[in-house]
Amino acid sequence: MPPVRVVTVCGSLQARSGNLALLESLPGLAPCDVEFSAFTGLRALPHFDLDLNEGEPPLAVRAWREALRSSDAVFMAAPEYGHSLPGALKNAVDWIFASGELYRKPVAVTASSPGPERGRRGLAALCQTLGALEAAVLGGEPIARGPGTDAAAARLLAQLVAAARRVRAGQPALPEIALPPFVEDVLRGTSLRGPLLTRLGAYDLAAPPTSDEVLAALAALLADSVGGAPLDGPGLALARLDAWVDGSEGARALLDSLVGRLDESPALHALLAALGPRALACLG
Ligand SMILES: Cc1cc2nc3c(=O)[nH]c(=O)nc-3n(C[C@H](O)[C@H](O)[C@H](O)COP(=O)(O)O)c2cc1C
Repeated sequence: MPPVRVVTVCGSLQARSGNLALLESLPGLAPCDVEFSAFTGLRALPHFDLDLNEGEPPLAVRAWREALRSSDAVFMAAPEYGHSLPGALKNAVDWIFASGELYRKPVAVTASSPGPERGRRGLAALCQTLGALEAAVLGGEPIARGPGTDAAAARLLAQLVAAARRVRAGQPALPEIALPPFVEDVLRGTSLRGPLLTRLGAYDLAAPPTSDEVLAALAALLADSVGGAPLDGPGLALARLDAWVDGSEGARALLDSLVGRLDESPALHALLAALGPRALACLG
């Protein structure tokens, strides 16, 4: 079987970048049939401009598109800047919005961060942007620098390679694991399915997760990202939750679990602001 081709993309342009170091560690963590290339041309991309996109696009744009087209999967590591993704990476994604190189392509995203709570809003914004391209997004969790870094990076890489192999075999990138119907409804149209399956370790599971495991993982995913809730990610899921909370025990349990995790933090205020009237009434 030909090797799985993974292109790495670093959202940080600085030479001494923690995200770059994480990406550079991947070849040492991968099975031998994975071939890596690093796309290093973010700095060379012009600001996205529809006029420049007409006819033959600039050379740097063609190189970016070709790097993605000729890969089976993409591994992105990006810092959070100002509660969002780096402008250089957003600009790069804008250049492929219409050309479709990431459509249904497995894309693992993470942030090398000083601690597990840092970088989540940047990742939520990156997932939202990639969701708009209909990429098959995996990961979405920061990887804290420390003794567990290599193991976490290796796990995400293994999931990415598994997703690329599934696509090669003509299957969907994400495993078709049956989730409770109301969870499916909450996730519809969001870019949260891949991050949820990643969090559940669904790629490694022999048996499907239990409904309690799914609820706990979804509650944790929403709670972690609600502080910077993008409207078509966690915000949309929360709005869906509002619609379900009348008739579903699972939705009620998820809501209770979410609120229980948040205490009096700004994230709780963001959650309360995002919930609709039915869910708020349900909280008493
Ligand atoms: C301009 C700027 C804005 C930043 N904004 C945030 C932020 O909003 N949230 C955060 O957790 N870290 C923020 N950081 C910290 C970086 O995300 C962090 O230093 C990251 O590890 C840098 O990644 P790198 O080493 O790959 O360049 C910011 C750093 C800079 C330089």
